Amino acid sequence: MTPQPRTILVTSALPYANGPIHLGHLVEYIQTDIWARFQRLCGHQAYYVCAEDTHGTPIMLKARSEGIDPEALIERIGEEHRQDFADFSIAFDNYYTTHSNENRYFAEHIFGQLQSNGHIVQRTITQAYDPVEEMFLPDRFIRGTCPRCSAKDQNGDNCEVCGATYTPTDLKDSVSVISGATPVTKDSEHYFVKLANFDSMLRSWTGSGRLQTEVKNKLSEWFETGLQDWDISRDAPYFGFEIPGASGKYFYVWLDAPIGYMASFRNLCDRSDLDFDAFWSPDATTELYHFVGKDILYFHTLFWPAMLHGSGFRTPTAVFTHGFLTINGQKMSKSRGTFITARAYLDHLDPDYLRYYFAAKLNNRVEDIDFNVDDFVTRVNSDLVGKVVNIASRCAGFIEKRFQGTLSTQLADPALFKHFVDANQSITEAYEGREFSRAMREIMTLADRANQYINDCQPWVIARETGQDDQLQGICTQGLNLFRILMIWLAPVVPGLARRTQEFLCCNIADAGNLNDLAEPLAGHKIGPFHHLLNRIEMKDAQEMMEKPLSLEQRSSSDSPGPHLAAEPITEEITIDDFSKVDLRVARVQDAQRVEGADRLLQLTLDLGGEVRQVFAGIKAAYEPETLVGRHVVVVANLAPRKMRFGVSSGMILAGSGSDDADGIFLLAPDDGAEPGMRVR
Ligand code: 2FM
Ligand code: ZN
Repeated sequence: MTPQPRTILVTSALPYANGPIHLGHLVEYIQTDIWARFQRLCGHQAYYVCAEDTHGTPIMLKARSEGIDPEALIERIGEEHRQDFADFSIAFDNYYTTHSNENRYFAEHIFGQLQSNGHIVQRTITQAYDPVEEMFLPDRFIRGTCPRCSAKDQNGDNCEVCGATYTPTDLKDSVSVISGATPVTKDSEHYFVKLANFDSMLRSWTGSGRLQTEVKNKLSEWFETGLQDWDISRDAPYFGFEIPGASGKYFYVWLDAPIGYMASFRNLCDRSDLDFDAFWSPDATTELYHFVGKDILYFHTLFWPAMLHGSGFRTPTAVFTHGFLTINGQKMSKSRGTFITARAYLDHLDPDYLRYYFAAKLNNRVEDIDFNVDDFVTRVNSDLVGKVVNIASRCAGFIEKRFQGTLSTQLADPALFKHFVDANQSITEAYEGREFSRAMREIMTLADRANQYINDCQPWVIARETGQDDQLQGICTQGLNLFRILMIWLAPVVPGLARRTQEFLCCNIADAGNLNDLAEPLAGHKIGPFHHLLNRIEMKDAQEMMEKPLSLEQRSSSDSPGPHLAAEPITEEITIDDFSKVDLRVARVQDAQRVEGADRLLQLTLDLGGEVRQVFAGIKAAYEPETLVGRHVVVVANLAPRKMRFGVSSGMILAGSGSDDADGIFLLAPDDGAEPGMRVR
């Protein structure tokens, strides 16, 4: 039965226009694209829009450091992003920019509506200000000494050493990382959205099956803490939209970024016959879905629905949240060579490989997924090449050479064909529910079944020994029909392979609505010549892609998460006696856990050769806790225990560190053979 057609608008988070697309971003674009393509394959109208996220201080400063206008920067980066997306077969219906007239219009309109509906307040706040650059400093642009434990060179909002959280104005000896000047404090009037006005609206919105359970739980915590006013303005200099009637004040980038979804869609409507209101008016019957990462939940599940509701628009049907990507079990890191850009990948490998690998790993939970190079090569070669494409290679030659490329009029095993067709319901349900890994597993089980059928029938024996042409043609026709069904199911995942299959089988594979024609076999049909459809991945190519750590120069010029401080000077001289007061020991990590509520800390249980200690270490940005268990580290064993917000830390582990979180933390480890408890001298 053909399902009732639905009309759907989907979005992925807008990438910032200041750095390259990398594999972490691609998890989301590939996830969304597969889902949108699947909806089209079902015959639904699915529109997928996105845009460049162009505003804010980091983009302004990056342009400045390159000596160009922000407009030129966002134009250049936007072009690179578009090319990356196109080469990964991300089929946007529109890819636009937040620096557009449409976006300015909606930002002003939504702000105006919120204001006239009593949801905006103005308040004077005091912030750190760089007197040299004459600008207010976002927290991440200030560093200084921790007001609690006096650790030097700490972030503007929390201390990596003792875990304290504070405001930048509490830091001692603070410096602006932009100019190096000592920040002063300065007052400024800001605009706030009164989020608490939306408390009951948000509670009922989130309570109606729109969110994953983990996300709902997170929201309950936020409701319990109480919804705070949201500061939506920033002072000049700022790259963004000036607030009407408030000279020198700009909309904060996070106000106009989600509005970019609307603006991109508006732009699409203006270029087609789509009706904007049918998607955005409060009584719209169309569906609206946002795919986002777990780090930007607050914006999409609280601020965004509140802004929409408070300004007279519909709210999203659902927000679909995914986890982060790790590479070989670790956070992506430029210095380790595991920061893989979309372009570095494309220079070596076919995009369908990655699309399949992510699909095979993605489910509908907020879990991190790991890109493991060995597993990637094995999985893709074994599933796509060894199972799926293999079916076609085993059957195509006989049809081409012995039957002039024509399939028989009857299937050799209609019951097996029906078994495949019957699996459609479960596979489509898995796709619809974003359980892509389950869909891939079921498809591969059927691919095994198809190969088993060919093994059992041994067409090569029939061709060589019996000369029973009808039987041979029937078996190969059966094999190719099973292959066709598998490829229709896989079409949203591997569009390149689907296109080549379509040319080879001379039939629809990926076209809109084609899932409804699945049950109709190809019979008496002429197929095209068989060319190899997909090569195996060579381990060498996958490794070459990995082995391109960015140079130091590239690290500071591309995708820098923030300005880097200069290398730290060597500190004051000490004597050997001073040094020998420090008791350094080899320790073995027995257990490592994330710490609830701490952005940077991991809680480690260390075995010092008989003695077991608990130590908190600010290494979360660089290490997944699971990967640390069993490792040897070096610990300062006679450091006085420190009481931290999360518990007592009895010692400190040693690591090399730069000024930049994820790239700059390198645990020191003894060579193999060292035992827990050994003194390090
Ligand atoms: O976190 C980010 O990368 C943002 N650029 C996402 C914006 S999504 C949306 F709200 F625009
Ligand atoms: Zn501290």
